[in-house]
Amino acid sequence: MTSFDSAKDLVLVAGATGGVGQLVVGKLLEKGLKVRVLTRNAAKAEDMFKQKVEIAVGDIRQPATLPAAMPGVIHIINCTGTTAFPSARWEFDETPNLIEWGIIFLNPKSSEAKAKNSPAKIDAQGASNLVAAAPQNLKRFVFVSSCGILRKNQFPFSILNGFGVLDAKQKGEESIINSGLPYTIIRPGRLIDGPYTSYDLNTLLKAKTGGKYGVVIGTGDTLSGDASRIDVANACVECLFQPNSSRKIFEIVNQGQRPSVIDWETLFSGIE
Ligand SMILES: NC(=O)c1ccc[n+]([C@@H]2O[C@H](COP(=O)([O-])OP(=O)(O)OC[C@H]3O[C@@H](n4cnc5c(N)ncnc54)[C@H](OP(=O)(O)O)[C@@H]3O)[C@@H](O)[C@H]2O)c1
Repeated sequence: MTSFDSAKDLVLVAGATGGVGQLVVGKLLEKGLKVRVLTRNAAKAEDMFKQKVEIAVGDIRQPATLPAAMPGVIHIINCTGTTAFPSARWEFDETPNLIEWGIIFLNPKSSEAKAKNSPAKIDAQGASNLVAAAPQNLKRFVFVSSCGILRKNQFPFSILNGFGVLDAKQKGEESIINSGLPYTIIRPGRLIDGPYTSYDLNTLLKAKTGGKYGVVIGTGDTLSGDASRIDVANACVECLFQPNSSRKIFEIVNQGQRPSVIDWETLFSGIE
């Protein structure tokens, strides 16, 4: 077990207002850790987390906004993301008209120039910016990536990567690995459960996976299937307590019978 001083250890959560991120915050608070959230929208975070967390306003695309979020941070959990396929969340300069959508789908790379918050901007460049701003004494950088990084040419990942989300996640992973910081990269399957947008932390803390399935962790990008946001969030937090999950990449999906208690120590100890 990592020597943890929950009274002092401050965890920065990027993407805290998102589906996995909200659950990560809930779990960290449940464990008695101090939480600072990095958000583009302070009002949204205040509404969601009330006075239970510190709020730092920042945007991972803008490096100058990140250092102010870092003082005292011991761990970073990065759950930021956008849609794999073009959507309003890509924040196009102007909403594409029908013809422009046609061009985008025929030539996916053309969307990049017009989109301000595409996977390339967040999952690759944004992740790299966050790594560059991280304190050098960081104990762990946890990054939520995706299954399929090593199977981009295989169905269904070839489709998922049509607009480059897996390429971008891979670049994000590389910037973390090359930084020399201790890291854990978590590659979930297709996310289920949530997102929880109740804006009520107490509801979040009580969130239970609707799935009846157990948690399976693997390495080498061989797993496929659904992954509960609740279990992905739990993995992001539980790995901080498991020294042998440092400098490791693992996949997570839900399969098999769910035990009454998920034994994270045993799950992580199986990682090589
Ligand atoms: N969906 C899937 O099936 C799937 C599969 C594998 C992996 N993943 C990954 O799992 C993670 C969690 O997914 P989710 O669906 O739970 O997340 P989500 O609900 O899409 O939340 C994304 C979060 O990222 C934040 N964000 C977006 N752009 C940002 C920026 N430029 N600067 C700072 N924060 C920014 C959003 O903040 P705002 O509130 O400000 O927008 C939000 O908090 C993501 O990394 C996703 O790529 C998803």
